[in-house]
Amino acid sequence: MQKRDKIFSRKRPEVAPFDFNHEVASVFDDMVSRSIPFYNEIHKMILDVAKFELPTHARIYDLGCSTGHTILALEQEAQILDRHFSYVGVDSSAPMIAVCHKKLKARGVGDFTLTQSKIEDVTIQNANMVILNYTLQFISPKNRLTLLKKIVRGLDPKGIVILSEKIKNQNCHIQELTTKLYYDFKKRNGYSELEIAQKREALENVLIPWTQEKNLMLLKNAGLKNISMLFKWYNFASFIGYK
Ligand SMILES: C[S@@+](CC[C@H](N)C(=O)[O-])C[C@H]1O[C@@H](n2cnc3c(N)ncnc32)[C@H](O)[C@@H]1O
Repeated sequence: MQKRDKIFSRKRPEVAPFDFNHEVASVFDDMVSRSIPFYNEIHKMILDVAKFELPTHARIYDLGCSTGHTILALEQEAQILDRHFSYVGVDSSAPMIAVCHKKLKARGVGDFTLTQSKIEDVTIQNANMVILNYTLQFISPKNRLTLLKKIVRGLDPKGIVILSEKIKNQNCHIQELTTKLYYDFKKRNGYSELEIAQKREALENVLIPWTQEKNLMLLKNAGLKNISMLFKWYNFASFIGYK
């Protein structure tokens, strides 16, 4: 049973910038499942891409792996398909890496390495697929292109990047509308007005979303081809690009 996310449920005198600390790691699975629209469907999409586009033996990087949900989902799929995937999970948060390690071990995932590091500082090598699932939005905008170029250099020929992000709309009116619709989605998932408002304040200047156009341009400028948006719901989108 996942521990319920109640982090912002009590009125705080002052809201500190959001941090992926121990408290967040302990409720993270509940938090993402109630905060990211179509979270499970995005994972299904990643599994589908892996199934059809990856070789039998594949090396997969999950950058910003958090508690390991993506790696676990891929490993389940690998077992069904009789494939061998090896995983490199990277996350700057020590509590996230600790929870991830525990989960992967408990579920018998054999071939993985986890690194607690900023993804800007890790080497990417011989990657068949690099996943950035809601992580790039936390990277300083000035470092995003350099990071993506490094990822592309570390991809095998035909290697794939999957990028999922919260996005903003170029049109101010639609941006306001999608923000309202998103908060309505969070209310439907049991978050109060107070929780929504305090989390929004905590994420201010911590989560910096780009438009879909800018994300597509980023992938192109990093040297990827066959770039496309695979999924979009209001202010969330997933993209694919190939080396
Ligand atoms: C929204 S979560 C990612 C969710 C996860 N990929 C999933 O699909 O469930 C963002 C993660 O990125 C990590 N992160 C943020 N900035 C980072 C950085 N510079 N380097 C590595 N990890 C970072 C955070 O610690 C957090 O675990």
